[in-house]
Amino acid sequence: MTMSSGTIESVRTEDGVSPRILDGVAIAGEIKAEVALEVQELRARGITPGLAVILVGEVPASQIYVRSKVKTCGELGIHSEMLTPPESITTEEMLELVAELNAREDIDGILIQLPLPAHVDTKRLLEAVSPAKDVDGFHPVNAGRLQSGQPALAPCTPAGIVEILKRSGLAIAGKHAVVVGRSDIVGKPAAMMLLNASATVTVCHSRTVDLARFTRDADILVAAIGRAGFVTAEMVKPGAVLIDVGINRVTDAAEVERFFPGDAGRAAGFAKRGSTVVGDIDPRAFARSGAYTPVPGGVGALTIAMLMKNTVTAARARRG
Ligand code: GUN
Repeated sequence: MTMSSGTIESVRTEDGVSPRILDGVAIAGEIKAEVALEVQELRARGITPGLAVILVGEVPASQIYVRSKVKTCGELGIHSEMLTPPESITTEEMLELVAELNAREDIDGILIQLPLPAHVDTKRLLEAVSPAKDVDGFHPVNAGRLQSGQPALAPCTPAGIVEILKRSGLAIAGKHAVVVGRSDIVGKPAAMMLLNASATVTVCHSRTVDLARFTRDADILVAAIGRAGFVTAEMVKPGAVLIDVGINRVTDAAEVERFFPGDAGRAAGFAKRGSTVVGDIDPRAFARSGAYTPVPGGVGALTIAMLMKNTVTAARARRG
């Protein structure tokens, strides 16, 4: 539903106001449907967008992510290739692989799944990917373009955050956006994209003194720290928009009960699987918010959709 800028569609209940849940799965579905249409148009003109994914070694979490990326390509009509060199591959051999993919006309996007083994020079490799094919948005040229407001392939998770806000009709311009976390992949580019959308942006990190002083002033609070439930209810301004980037697996039953008191659904899931996924925001903080992204089903759902969108953007820019 589209709302007037800046309003939050919340529900008044007897206890007060229920926050609005920002459904990442639904928004990702919209984006994927749009991308599928674009792919159809391109294919009708003889251009099939192509994505190559390099997955080194056998990291189970990476294997799951990559399979999901390849599967989504198939669903949207994007050609995909998975390269799976062994853990023992050297930086030089990886550079050769990337150079081959850079030279291929039918490959529009190159994604090197991270993390790479410690002996591989990740920075050097990410810089070897042609900026025109850098669908992860990790190349310094794309980071520079993003910060100078030029068209760029932007990192997928921060791009997903901005899509959630915009497609939910939530104002960014003039709002105080506080980003907790300063990684090159999420925190820094998220701050830049929110700034480009005219938010007033504060970036906090592990060395920030009195973090709550900043988070309590946030109209939009983006948590990308990688610690389960790190942002607590007292750190949140009532009515704020909470964007939770964290995906943390919690295996301690006491912790699950602490985060989700009386939540039978969570308890049942935990009993079945022995773990549950918690974001960087304490779930008990959501009740204070005006709107929030759930975990799972929030920001995480957007990342692959934005990768698909970047692949089509790269295909258009290079061949369209
Ligand atoms: N590992 C975890 N998330 C990502 C991502 O978005 N891109 C890449 N290349 N590797 C990842």
